[in-house]
Amino acid sequence: QSRITVTRLQEMRRSRTPIACLTAYDAVFGRLVDEAGMDVVLVGDSLGMVVQGHETTVPVTLEQMIYHTSLVARGCRRALLMADMPFMSYTDPSQALANAARLMQEGGAQMVKLEGDGGQVQVVSALARHGIPVCAHLGLRPQSIHKLGGYRVQGRGAHAGERMMRDAVALQDAGADILLLECVPAVLAAEIRGIVDIPVIGIGAGSDCDGQILVLHDVLGLTAKPPRFARNFLQGSDDIPAALAAYVSAVRERRFPGPEHTFQN
Ligand code: KIV
Ligand code: NA
Repeated sequence: QSRITVTRLQEMRRSRTPIACLTAYDAVFGRLVDEAGMDVVLVGDSLGMVVQGHETTVPVTLEQMIYHTSLVARGCRRALLMADMPFMSYTDPSQALANAARLMQEGGAQMVKLEGDGGQVQVVSALARHGIPVCAHLGLRPQSIHKLGGYRVQGRGAHAGERMMRDAVALQDAGADILLLECVPAVLAAEIRGIVDIPVIGIGAGSDCDGQILVLHDVLGLTAKPPRFARNFLQGSDDIPAALAAYVSAVRERRFPGPEHTFQN
C-alpha cells in the first residue's frame, strides 16, 4: 500500500472519511500503529511526559525529537509521519526552517507540527513556502502550559472563540496543511471546521472534526491519570494490535469520541 499523503488527507476530508491518528515514540510501536491502519502517526513531544516522566512537554529538545522520529520512521511504512517541533525550536522563520529540515532529513518526518496561534503565521508561511508540510496545533497548547495556567478547555466564551476562529483561518491562509484542535468545545471545533478548507484533527474537540488523535499510552490504558477525552481501547481487546485496530474502527465509524469525551460550551 502506498504512503498516505497530504492530498489523501484532503480527499478524506472531502469524502467525510474520518482520519485516524495516534502517537508513537519508537520503532516497535511505529510498526504496530502503522499496521493497525492509522493514517497519521505523530511523534509527539508528549514523549516528555509519557516516555521521559516529566510533568510537562517543556523540557523536550530538538535532538530528542529527531532521535525518536528516526526510531518511529523505521517501523512506519504507510502512515504519514508527523513530528512535533519542540518548545523554543520555532521562534523565528529561519530557526524554524533549519529545525524542520532536521526533523525531515535526519528524523524522516513528512510533516511537522507546531503549536501556533495568530503569532505563528510568519513561521508557518516560511515553512509552507519552502515545501514543508505543516500542521498548526491550536486550542490547548501544552508548550504554553505555564502561561495558560493549567490543562483546561480553551476557546470558551465569545471572545476567545472568535479569536481561535480568526487564528485558524490565518494559519490556513499562511499555508498550514492541517489544523489540530486540542481541548476545544465541540461546537467551536465544528464552527472552525466549517470555515476552513483543510482537514481538522481533534483531541478533546468533539466528533465533528475530519479526524481524531490520541496519545498511545492513553489508548493502551498506561497513563496514571488519563485525560477525560481519552479512552482505553485495550479494555475489551485481546492484545495491543487488536486495541489499536479497535481505535481505528471506532474513529472511522464515528463511535469515538462519544459525548463523555467531549466538552460543551
Ligand atoms: O504531543 C502530542 O502527543 C500531541 C498530541 C496530543 C496531539 O501534540
Ligand atoms: Na505535542
